[in-house]
Amino acid sequence: MKTKDIIKLFDKYVIPNYTRYPVAIVRGKGAYAWDAEGKKYLDMFPGWAVDGLGHCHPKVVKAIRKQAGKLLHVPNTFYMEPQGRLSELISKHSFGGQCFYCNSGAEANEGAIKLARLHSAKGKYKIITMKNSFHGRTLATVAATAQPKYHKGLKLDRLVKDFTYVPYNDLMAVQKAVDAKTCAIMLEPIQGEGGINIADTAYLKGLRKLCNRKKLLLIFDEVQTGMGRTGQYFGYQHSGVVPDIMTLAKALGGGVAMGAMVAKKEVAKDLVPGTHASTFGGNPLVCAAAIAVFDAIESEGLLKHARTMGEYILSRLRDLQETFSIIKEVRGKGLMIGIELTMSGNDIVNECMKRGLLINCTHETVLRFMPPMVVKKTHVDRSVSILAKALYAVVEKQR
Ligand SMILES: Cc1ncc(COP(=O)(O)O)c(C=O)c1O
Repeated sequence: MKTKDIIKLFDKYVIPNYTRYPVAIVRGKGAYAWDAEGKKYLDMFPGWAVDGLGHCHPKVVKAIRKQAGKLLHVPNTFYMEPQGRLSELISKHSFGGQCFYCNSGAEANEGAIKLARLHSAKGKYKIITMKNSFHGRTLATVAATAQPKYHKGLKLDRLVKDFTYVPYNDLMAVQKAVDAKTCAIMLEPIQGEGGINIADTAYLKGLRKLCNRKKLLLIFDEVQTGMGRTGQYFGYQHSGVVPDIMTLAKALGGGVAMGAMVAKKEVAKDLVPGTHASTFGGNPLVCAAAIAVFDAIESEGLLKHARTMGEYILSRLRDLQETFSIIKEVRGKGLMIGIELTMSGNDIVNECMKRGLLINCTHETVLRFMPPMVVKKTHVDRSVSILAKALYAVVEKQR
């Protein structure tokens, strides 16, 4: 099918709740994707961080094929080896907690919010979240998301209340916001959708101390930062500050839909039968894919590679900053990189796309580069060269 025919199908049968580019992607391999007309794109934002290892990583594809021929799904009323083995991997590579599985980041956070309330003493239910955060689109997680643009028309006060929003990286603000009803503090170690804002180590250490002192749970949303992108398996590992609950999704399944909530054993014990569940959560197929993701990261040395390539991208982009005054700041950790502009970034994203480069713009003015962990120097060089041309074209147009 050609792109125009696929678009016609969408116009007729798909709810138009997304702003879509007029491009239909039909195939992907590593750092590349192709559209229905065969145009090749260098994908520096594969799947909004879902394709963390790039498109169709051979180890993930092989594991899915093998598992698909054996067993696709059984309900969580039975035991299944892949879910047990994956949980061991997540636990051993993080803080020794236990796992619950679901199908998305929002659901993982929904689980964390419920567990925080279930675990806490009677009368404690409030959760402090950070301005410019993003935690998902279900009613509870969108209420946890401290960005008013996502609340419009939802009448959240009728259903989901009791999230208190404070500025990110401001320990005093959190201290002031804690009251007798607070049960948890929830944040991203690096805010992704909010514009690649990195939490200071001192701030995270302060939050941990505060949580210990006030008996609050510390919840890290690692949906975007998790699974190696930042150069450590999980974003919190850069600071050494360990959460009580951590949520994962996006890159966990190497491209298949899955989410996970990981909790310290003493907290996890309160998610007793009947309190929470997910029909599809952690089935053998998705767990086999996620095991293959861990295998690829280990056997291909991708954590170290993410750190090395991250430094390289940052240095190349900072060089670009010297040429283009519209680049205000370049920041990031590993392969989670933001370029803050003095203007809206949407035209630049479009110009890049025309030239065969896929990137993203978030928070109006921040270009986001989240390349796959298999990214090579040649990919980076080509991306930077296309970005430079796109920046030049947009600046010229504005003159
Ligand atoms: C930090 C964070 N949390 C939660 C979510 C929601 O994940 P999902 O879209 O899988 O529900 C996202 C999605 O972008 C995210 O970046």
